[in-house]
Amino acid sequence: MPIEITNARRLDQDSKLRPFDCGDSDLNDFFHKDSLNHSNELLTVTYLFESRRETIAFISLLNDKISQEKTCKGTLRAIAKGIPHPKRTYKSFPAVKIGRMGVNIKYQRKGMGTEILDAVKASFTTANKTGCRFVTVDAYNNPGTIGFYQKNGFNFLTEKDLKDDTRLMYFDLKRFVQDNSTD
Ligand SMILES: CC(C)(COP(=O)(O)OP(=O)(O)OC[C@H]1O[C@@H](n2cnc3c(N)ncnc32)[C@H](O)[C@@H]1OP(=O)(O)O)[C@@H](O)C(=O)NCCC(=O)NCCS
Repeated sequence: MPIEITNARRLDQDSKLRPFDCGDSDLNDFFHKDSLNHSNELLTVTYLFESRRETIAFISLLNDKISQEKTCKGTLRAIAKGIPHPKRTYKSFPAVKIGRMGVNIKYQRKGMGTEILDAVKASFTTANKTGCRFVTVDAYNNPGTIGFYQKNGFNFLTEKDLKDDTRLMYFDLKRFVQDNSTD
């Protein structure tokens, strides 16, 4: 059965975290030590995908925007192509950011990460309470993580971060709407 964000458990004060290891110590630390604080401070909303014994995956989301100053000209042109003419000149466009995401090492490369991204895309096009055009992420700059986001339709926002530890990537939710339209 496909994952739905509404079926995931939303982390709150009463949540007990189940064991989790995605193979990345920073992400593991965030999950175990900081995710609840971030939720309590209204900085992120974390969704947990669990079995009875362990956490299979988690994703932490926050509000974001794609702004002209942080985006290279070629990408801006590509983004503008999909936006009706008078609105192209907006200084920024609303987005949801994947702050953190990890899949338990035992469950990686089985399609779980892709299902979670699809659930985010569906949730922010059908159940969003405010306008949201893009999904953004500061993707770990390694071939596995970059390949994962590219395979899921994400593109780079800029070439300036080519050598950084993370790369800014984005997905246009309008594309998801069009791909899933029944017309
Ligand atoms: C990156 C991550 C979230 C992907 O989740 P996942 O459930 O393993 O991903 P999927 O099974 O949906 O992978 C889909 C595709 O992405 C690519 N991909 C995913 N992980 C990859 C890896 N480690 N190396 C190369 N390609 C990878 C592959 O093309 C894969 O398709 P395939 O298995 O048919 O070849 C997960 O591997 C993870 O938690 N990694 C450690 C933490 C991390 O990097 N988090 C992201 C921070 S921005």
